[in-house]
Amino acid sequence: MADTPETNRSRDLYREARRWIPGGTQLLSKRPEMFAPERWPAYYTDAHGCEVVDLDGRKYLDFTHNGVGSCLLGYAHPRVTAAVVDRIQRGSMCSLNNPEEVTLARKLIELHPWAEQARFARCGGESLAIAVRIARAATGRDVIAFCGYHGWSDWYLAANRSANQALDGHLLPGLSPAGVPRGLQGTALPFGYNRLEELAAIIRDQGRNLAAVVMEPTRHTPPLPEFLPGVRQLCDDCGAKLVFDEVTTGLRFRQGGKHLDYGVIPDMAVFAKALGNGHPIGAVIGRASTMEAAQNTFISSTYWTEGVGPTAALATLEVCGEIDVAGHVRSIGEQFRDQWQTLAKKHELSVTLGGYPALTTLAFGHEDAAALMTLFTVRMLDHGFLAGSGFYPTLAHQPEHIDKFMSAAEHVCMELVDAVQQGDVRTRLGSPVKHGGFARLT
Ligand SMILES: Cc1ncc(COP(=O)(O)O)c(C=O)c1O
Repeated sequence: MADTPETNRSRDLYREARRWIPGGTQLLSKRPEMFAPERWPAYYTDAHGCEVVDLDGRKYLDFTHNGVGSCLLGYAHPRVTAAVVDRIQRGSMCSLNNPEEVTLARKLIELHPWAEQARFARCGGESLAIAVRIARAATGRDVIAFCGYHGWSDWYLAANRSANQALDGHLLPGLSPAGVPRGLQGTALPFGYNRLEELAAIIRDQGRNLAAVVMEPTRHTPPLPEFLPGVRQLCDDCGAKLVFDEVTTGLRFRQGGKHLDYGVIPDMAVFAKALGNGHPIGAVIGRASTMEAAQNTFISSTYWTEGVGPTAALATLEVCGEIDVAGHVRSIGEQFRDQWQTLAKKHELSVTLGGYPALTTLAFGHEDAAALMTLFTVRMLDHGFLAGSGFYPTLAHQPEHIDKFMSAAEHVCMELVDAVQQGDVRTRLGSPVKHGGFARLT
């Protein structure tokens, strides 16, 4: 049985949290059960760069998703922090509006010359919900065709009202649509990435009712040459709006939206996560002809007017404009993958590294892969690393961090190989196996 740390305030607090907070956390992917139940340090006191300190004062280097992809510049980036602190000290909420949101609108439109207007929210899912509302208001239609994950809202989860597994291929298996009105059945229809024929089939059937196509321009694989232009054409032919979700890809792959690299122009694009580098901000930008429909419906919220989010976004965009952040995270991701591949080969461990270097996924090839990954995570914690099935590098990660990670990973891999050979992965783990998707906790 693995050693259990003598004190584990995080574990104790999480046990309490599950009593007061249904599901324990506000975000599924921050549940300790998604990494290593009973072992993962659920809470932190300090986070700077890529270093995290847990409630017991233990230090870790973060080789997971670094704030679920939000902290592209690293935790508590000094420039962003200074700008935010200054805004807070001058008052970040007021009866009047913050001027930073106008500067931010101008800045995002400069970066995306096809766009003419912007609206702001504070996170990705609600920004997508705004884009969908605008698309429905602009077209007078109800149906949304989508590909990929776009948040927790009714419009999206409605997909699982028609077929319970409709969302399974789009990020998480098992998402329940309980609480989503049955009346929304048939209003959200999934298609596969690079599967133009699937979208064409939806449009053949529902084209006249189609308000929008919502998708990421890319996520794990590049688009086939004809895919994005084909999507644009299908939208134009049936009068649907094209919405690119850049919540995860925006800024991480290049300054601004990744769609700019493909030359396919949407009607709206949505940003969040990295835009605020850890501070809440979401943006919907679009052509005026589409965005004006926001005035025909009611889209309005008190905290969408506070000043921290736009201030953080401006500072983040400034840093990304000065430094090749996307180039850095790509290079760190490539080094991580190269060294993993060498290690896996050396120890004959089956490891698959997927996605782009800046958004790397990692999986072990084993009949009990979830248990093996949990054992990996638990042992890496003992070496001072947060590690699991994906790594989203940040500007704070340097080659020496990768070297430290890989030397710890080598020790752990030797044990994994031994555990596989002995067939005792679960016995060595001695604690529950990580969850793979959505599940009720109790
Ligand atoms: C592509 C995409 N869209 C939307 C969302 C939802 O954003 P948020 O968690 O900020 O609501 C996410 C979050 O993972 C995402 O990756």
